[in-house]
Amino acid sequence: MSAAPTARTLIPSWLSVPADANELVAGVWPVSAERDAQGVLAVGGVAATELQERFGTPLYVLDENEVRTHARRTLEAFRAAATQHGVQARVYYAGKALLCTEVVRWVTEEGLAVDVCSGGELAVALAAGADPARLGFHGNNKSVAELERAVEIGIGSIVLDSWNELDRLARIVAGRPQPQAVLVRVNSGVHAETHDFLATAHEDQKFGFPLEDAAAVVARIREIPELLFTGLHCHIGSQIFGTAGFEESAARLVEVHAGLRAGGEVPVLNLGGGFGIAYTSVDDPTPIEQLAAGIAAAVARECSARGIPMPHLAFEPGRAIVGQAGITLYEVGTTKQVSAGEGVERRYVSVDGGMNDNVRPALYGAQYTARIASRTSTADPALVRVVGKHCESGDIVVDADYLPGDVRPGDLLAVPATGAYCFSLASNYNYLTRPPLVAVCDGRARVIVRGETIDDLLARDIGADSAARPEHTERADMPALTQRSESK
Ligand SMILES: Cc1ncc(COP(=O)(O)O)c(C=O)c1O
Repeated sequence: MSAAPTARTLIPSWLSVPADANELVAGVWPVSAERDAQGVLAVGGVAATELQERFGTPLYVLDENEVRTHARRTLEAFRAAATQHGVQARVYYAGKALLCTEVVRWVTEEGLAVDVCSGGELAVALAAGADPARLGFHGNNKSVAELERAVEIGIGSIVLDSWNELDRLARIVAGRPQPQAVLVRVNSGVHAETHDFLATAHEDQKFGFPLEDAAAVVARIREIPELLFTGLHCHIGSQIFGTAGFEESAARLVEVHAGLRAGGEVPVLNLGGGFGIAYTSVDDPTPIEQLAAGIAAAVARECSARGIPMPHLAFEPGRAIVGQAGITLYEVGTTKQVSAGEGVERRYVSVDGGMNDNVRPALYGAQYTARIASRTSTADPALVRVVGKHCESGDIVVDADYLPGDVRPGDLLAVPATGAYCFSLASNYNYLTRPPLVAVCDGRARVIVRGETIDDLLARDIGADSAARPEHTERADMPALTQRSESK
């Protein structure tokens, strides 16, 4: 999904000392983020201090209006771009970015379809009341049970990823009256890594079919009356800026798409997601309208060069819908001044969460920023590294930023742009409980996914109950110790 962690430098080259270490940089924070007269941060009209008081920290906060605005704007952008070329565009929200029933409701109310990539994600989408016909199903290793469930509920499309899966699905749909729509995921050989893209002849990765196999796969699908091939699918990566990677990929896909038309209709081309957002002040994502227009124009150009009609388009943005809408609140527990070498002094600011609520810095070397949310300060900016409370030195939340030099225990800290791939990648590492997800909107806050409790953590541990009750010391899944010793 994303690039490998990058080596950390003492101070990233992009980071400069801010004129004001209290500033909320536009584009990184939700549009509603502001400070009141006392300097307290508010999002969605709710003060961060109120959120801390009511729900505790760490806390995921999601601005409903911001999600809805991005959903609406993205859909309008792709629809307008497609209309320019006489075709339609469908936009799926990529649920893997952040999935819960409330978010499914918001995005579907705004007109988006939803893509899921596991039986669990499918269950959440269905629990939210999503129309099965407007769901897409991804994944490189969908189980028989997951495929059966998807077919049974009448899922809109299944994105096939391997020959094994095609065989599996063929057996599941055999004899069914309605054909199941399928797309074929291919590797275009274009791989986007953060802001750059790379075009190769071969992609050494697990997703999809090699482009050169597409014709054989589609021929096989067309032999199966219960399957309906609707088009090719490709996802070139994540956090992509600019249209160049998409344009290169579209050119390669349209070439194959054109050949497939000889055997029947190919109504759709799905170009996946991956549209970048701003995590720091130096990230300058391409506006979605510009991306949509550029991508649609590239497909139109390639189709016209081959004298074929343009297919309808489909896209799957995840991060671009929810990323900027989320912030995470933490309380500072300790601070520590460290000489990092080469004359660099760094303040380690430890917060009450960490890699269990945001693993992206550890997993991808992702960069974030932070601000004190409970107050402003005129103290000189100090170089900080915000770290979590886990037993890992790589447990970093914000690799490098400047905060007012008087940052101290008890301060409330906010990390912006955490709406995507933080909640969804959360874990219980070190048996920390996963934080609640709170929606804010027009001055109101409500829990949309409750936080875990210690009871939740113990609930799956079969021995935990019996340990508390001395009369039940034997493990349910093993013979009693006395029996084992007797049998020796
Ligand atoms: C197939 C597919 N579609 C869409 C997405 C969403 O990507 P993003 O959140 O970067 O838009 C992903 C992310 O991994 C993906 O694998």
